[in-house]
Amino acid sequence: MKTPARLLPLVQEGQIDEVLGQLMSGKEADIYVVDCGGVMRCAKVYKESKNRSFRQRSDYQEGRAVGNSRRARAMAKGSKFGKRELEEAWHSAEVDALYRLTAAGVRVPQPLFYDHGVLVMELVADAQGDVAPRLTDLELTEEQAVQMYSVLLKEVVRMLCAGLIHGDLSEYNVLVGKDGPVIIDLPQVVTAAGNNNARKLLLRDIDALALCLGRSAPSIRQFDYGNEIWQAYEKGTLDPDMKLTGRFKRPDHKADVGSVLRDIEDARQDALRRAGKT
Ligand SMILES: Nc1ncnc2c1ncn2[C@@H]1O[C@H](COP(=O)(O)OP(=O)(O)O)[C@@H](O)[C@H]1O
Ligand SMILES: [Mg+2]
Repeated sequence: MKTPARLLPLVQEGQIDEVLGQLMSGKEADIYVVDCGGVMRCAKVYKESKNRSFRQRSDYQEGRAVGNSRRARAMAKGSKFGKRELEEAWHSAEVDALYRLTAAGVRVPQPLFYDHGVLVMELVADAQGDVAPRLTDLELTEEQAVQMYSVLLKEVVRMLCAGLIHGDLSEYNVLVGKDGPVIIDLPQVVTAAGNNNARKLLLRDIDALALCLGRSAPSIRQFDYGNEIWQAYEKGTLDPDMKLTGRFKRPDHKADVGSVLRDIEDARQDALRRAGKT
């Protein structure tokens, strides 16, 4: 195909030999299949997003290090320079996450390089060598859905052990490759330790998987893996090989209620004493 303008610099510099075709055109990015030295790769060309509001992103970007203070100030103010920096930070968050997660053994596309606003990565393929389908494109049996859920939960745990939460996990951002599911689309990735919304986002990610896979295997909806995983993370006991039960026991608050009632009664007695009524 004719080389798209955004990929031209990469072709001219020899990082890409040929653009073979366009896979997708999404709201956030255009995805191409490219030839790099005889191997088919995937090129994600980020679009300047007009739909992504600064406020929308704040849930995700809280706690993200932005480097120097000039950048941080510009990004906070939303100036033109700041917007470009924010856009750049959004892309590099995905690239950084892919490197970090690959190193941690989470199954994501292997990143190759990021240049001129384009991420070149492994093209996830199915057993026939075709581009892998998304989880949403497959009809799974109950058994396959249960198995898929268990593999994906392990990936979520491994990801959290590496300090990250996907933040937009769904049947659209999981490809089913020849060796199993591959998690994609990570610009909104969240650093668990520095973000007050971390628990909420983790539970939402897991709910999205349960909702989709629960259509084929309704039994999985009765479990609460999200809270179990978060509790282990907070206690510092989360481990990639941890055996999950899906049973979560809420901390017992009854004793707390009693002590609060006693405190209130004490305060009431004090007030009465001060008023000279006892
Ligand atoms: N590494 C990859 N290998 C194969 N297909 C991919 C890869 N990355 C993305 N895709 C395809 O492109 C689509 C859009 O990519 P994604 O990263 O989810 O961007 P968007 O922000 O547009 O959702 C995916 O749903 C998938 O079908
Ligand atoms: Mg996507």
